[in-house]
Amino acid sequence: MSNNASFLKNKNKFLILGCGFSGSFFANRLRRLGYTAFTSSRSEKKDPFSFVFNSAEGKVPDKKTLDGVTHILSCIPPDQNGCDPVLGILKSKLQSLPLEWVGYLSTTGVYGDTKGKWVSESDEPNPFQKRSHNRLNCEKEWIESGLPVQIFRLPGIYGPGRSTFEAIRNQKIRVIAKKDQVFSRIHVADITNAIIYLLQNKDSLKFYQIINIADDNPCAQIEVIQYCYDLLGLDMPKPCLFEDARKELSPIAQSFWIENRRVSNKLLCEKLGYKLIYKDYKLGLKNCFLNS
Ligand SMILES: NC(=O)c1ccc[n+]([C@@H]2O[C@H](COP(=O)([O-])OP(=O)(O)OC[C@H]3O[C@@H](n4cnc5c(N)ncnc54)[C@H](OP(=O)(O)O)[C@@H]3O)[C@@H](O)[C@H]2O)c1
Repeated sequence: MSNNASFLKNKNKFLILGCGFSGSFFANRLRRLGYTAFTSSRSEKKDPFSFVFNSAEGKVPDKKTLDGVTHILSCIPPDQNGCDPVLGILKSKLQSLPLEWVGYLSTTGVYGDTKGKWVSESDEPNPFQKRSHNRLNCEKEWIESGLPVQIFRLPGIYGPGRSTFEAIRNQKIRVIAKKDQVFSRIHVADITNAIIYLLQNKDSLKFYQIINIADDNPCAQIEVIQYCYDLLGLDMPKPCLFEDARKELSPIAQSFWIENRRVSNKLLCEKLGYKLIYKDYKLGLKNCFLNS
């Protein structure tokens, strides 16, 4: 199996629900490979391949958009009630389509806090945050839908236009040190490429319904920030201890720091043989630096 997508049949029609950062990267890659990819957003776009899907307003794709769809990728997070916005409104329509594959972008937050230990797909999810309970609920909804679903659990996503460089440029960076704390991350190009790679392996869906997509090198956030300042040729501000910074952080920012885990990619990269483009933040951030 190769990392390119020549296997995909031209008659395949992809629908990407939620065309934000990861969704648009995926759609653009598919189009460059010559496939048809329609993308949703909550507001009208001029792009003829874009359609409106807004679960909160009951706006759903029309028959013409859904006709002939073979593959769907959902990049939409849980709604305010902790339910999946796509299945809440489109489940029976999707069940009536001759779908070959449905991908769902989830998060590694469902694993909860492992106190820095490695965690893999064979570990029981142990969500701590409410949003992670919601996410696990959505994963269950997708699995119970009976659709040919594959779930991708993702750690922090970065890439050109969304990385530590933007935080530095927009002066939104907080340099925080917390002993033994690590974060896992993934470059958006590896999400896209790994999914396209897995689409070539029909067995991956049959035998592996849940797959982590993470790089090889979970590490401290401060290490990543220091690397960006070095590339920019600037001095990094003096770090602040988490305990001191805590009270000034938003509840959501705090919540990221109270979980500590290393996300294993062994299933994807060893068992299934995917070769990461950016195996660590250094390679990935160099790409962001050169493309921003
Ligand atoms: N960002 C991270 O670091 C990270 C880490 C792990 C997992 N994830 C999860 O992975 C997925 C993709 O992440 P991302 O950062 O690429 O996403 P993103 O840029 O935030 O895009 C999310 C998309 O969902 C759409 N959307 C949200 N609510 C909707 C609703 N009720 N009805 C219809 N569309 C709706 C948005 O539409 P509009 O384009 O109209 O706004 C947007 O296109 C998300 O589920 C995210 O929670 C993210």
